[in-house]
Amino acid sequence: MARTITMEVLRYRPEQDAEPVLQTYELPFTDDMSVLQALLHIKDELDETLSFRWSCRMAICGSCGMMINGKPALSCKTFLRDLYPGPVRVEALNHFPIERDLVVVMEDFIDKLERIQPYIIPKAPRTLAQGEYLQTPAELEKYEQFSSCINCLLCYAACPQYGLNPDFVGPGALALLHRYNADSRDGGAAQRMELVAAEEGVFNCTAVGYCSEVCPKHVDPANAVNQNKTTAARDYFLSFLMPKGGKK
Ligand code: SF4
Ligand code: FES
Repeated sequence: MARTITMEVLRYRPEQDAEPVLQTYELPFTDDMSVLQALLHIKDELDETLSFRWSCRMAICGSCGMMINGKPALSCKTFLRDLYPGPVRVEALNHFPIERDLVVVMEDFIDKLERIQPYIIPKAPRTLAQGEYLQTPAELEKYEQFSSCINCLLCYAACPQYGLNPDFVGPGALALLHRYNADSRDGGAAQRMELVAAEEGVFNCTAVGYCSEVCPKHVDPANAVNQNKTTAARDYFLSFLMPKGGKK
């Protein structure tokens, strides 16, 4: 007999739901089915009104993050066989307002991304005739891991401090900030460190570490935050020893 699995999906349709409600679906189960495929089956065959984000289906675009059985995860990278016999509960990512069903409002994160200046700020103007920047493998290694972030927001849904204080810049944006500050081609570290040391910066972090645990790309944002705590504390003490403006 064909196997089935029960999915409990948090629905929120602002035009009809005063608050989010769980809706249950029974669907065919196969060993190779991801949670995203299950949601696509629901949308194609059972309920076309269900809304969720997805694109690449291969853990690259970062758009399919959601709470799966209470944990932040990519739905395309989570397989029903690991959750069988279910039921499997799927909800919008924690700590973000729900726009509709499993789709969250991302504006807060986009604003934070803009604030960290996620691009190389050259140390000095450089002409094309000067050729490309060269980097040693050791210089690449300093930031490579932190450049793998796919902006999936799982670390924000895992972060209890972001849940308590949405002003906290948060793990993903701070990991990306660190990616640029650690790049030998970049000269913007002093500007970004102002945000690192600000009220909404790294010292909000209480070192829970769940952000790194849920990260699907092994970025280890907790490590980036810790390194920046050390740098911000060092800068603070150095500011007493060095004349104003003498800081590198
Ligand atoms: S650090 Fe990891 S969990 Fe956080 S947004 Fe980037 S890829 Fe996602
Ligand atoms: S669909 Fe792109 S990361 Fe899941």
